[in-house]
Amino acid sequence: MIPINLPKIGEEEVQAVVRVMRSGYVTSSLGAGPEVTKFEAGFAKFAGAKHAIAVNTGTAALHAALVAVGVQAGDEVILPSFTFVATAEAVVLAGGKPVFADIDAKTYNLSPSEAAKNVTQKTKALLPVDLYGLSADMEPIREVADKHGLAVVEDAAQAHGLSYRGKPPGAFADAACWSLYASKNMTTGEGGVVTTNDDKVAELTRMMRTHGEKAKYASEMLGCNYRMSEMQAAIGVVQLEKLPLFVEKRTQNAQRLTEVLSKSDKLCLPVEPAGGNHSWYLYTVRLCNGTEAERNRLLDELHKKGIGAEAYYVNPVHRMPYYRSFGARELPETEKAAQQVFSLPIHPGVTKEQVTFIGETLLKMLQ
Ligand SMILES: Cc1ncc(COP(=O)(O)O)c(C=O)c1O
Repeated sequence: MIPINLPKIGEEEVQAVVRVMRSGYVTSSLGAGPEVTKFEAGFAKFAGAKHAIAVNTGTAALHAALVAVGVQAGDEVILPSFTFVATAEAVVLAGGKPVFADIDAKTYNLSPSEAAKNVTQKTKALLPVDLYGLSADMEPIREVADKHGLAVVEDAAQAHGLSYRGKPPGAFADAACWSLYASKNMTTGEGGVVTTNDDKVAELTRMMRTHGEKAKYASEMLGCNYRMSEMQAAIGVVQLEKLPLFVEKRTQNAQRLTEVLSKSDKLCLPVEPAGGNHSWYLYTVRLCNGTEAERNRLLDELHKKGIGAEAYYVNPVHRMPYYRSFGARELPETEKAAQQVFSLPIHPGVTKEQVTFIGETLLKMLQ
């Protein structure tokens, strides 16, 4: 089976972990040892941000950042339902109420006008997601936020390598939250990062990471243990160096797949941003006029041919048992996308021949 995603770990990462383990300095109770500090400096440069704070998951990054921008009990946070559940989970962890808004039909990202419709007196923040590696439409989202005095936290879990209007993720947000989970464009196994240009947000995120402390044993707020280990950071330093090559390979694979699949009129192919680029975390197509059953049948057939296609996300968050209690308006574009989309493997381990095989196999099935 050609898996939908696969971490690309080389001997350099193995040696980095061995070196750190032999040093005996495996973590720092203050939040950042030498490897974490080095990784953070590299990541801040990569993201064009003043601060990068490494944490132990993308979910932790979202929770810490939402608290740091001021989300408190009773505050509403507007986000898409068409995302991984962690986006909404972090809102609830911060004490907020997730308010789900519909997506744009072409990009699958939070629609700025739908977000604006959901603003109330209780809204504190907007939480757009760069889904599949395509940036959310951040400039109009920032405008909605500025009009109503809201914070913007960008879920950049899938965003490593994208640019939007020539800028990296986070450029239009108060904070961007990245995941370094095994499937992502770069990985530390588990891991996350918050990037921000705001000194106060950075300070509060660091406090969230280590039990609400600025000084040891003097918690000033409710925090957590969200620290990244030195081994993870050492892997991160190496993966960050390799990231441009990983993204280049994903881009080549995506372009090749588009060449093959554009011969079918049954698929809506992923859109590429004007003035920016996709991170190609996932190559996601839509069976434009198909039913959910037809999409699922295609997935079964692809699996039988050894192609690890997957549908992200078949169950939008507002329909999950726990999240139903928060209520949601009708989300027609979200519902439709959940029934029609599916993603095909383009990760750096997929060869050119395999991409051609994936595209041509799918074309035949659609005839
Ligand atoms: C859109 C999105 N948000 C948040 C997360 C959470 O990240 P993590 O799994 O590192 O906690 C992920 C990835 O898993 C994700 O894809």
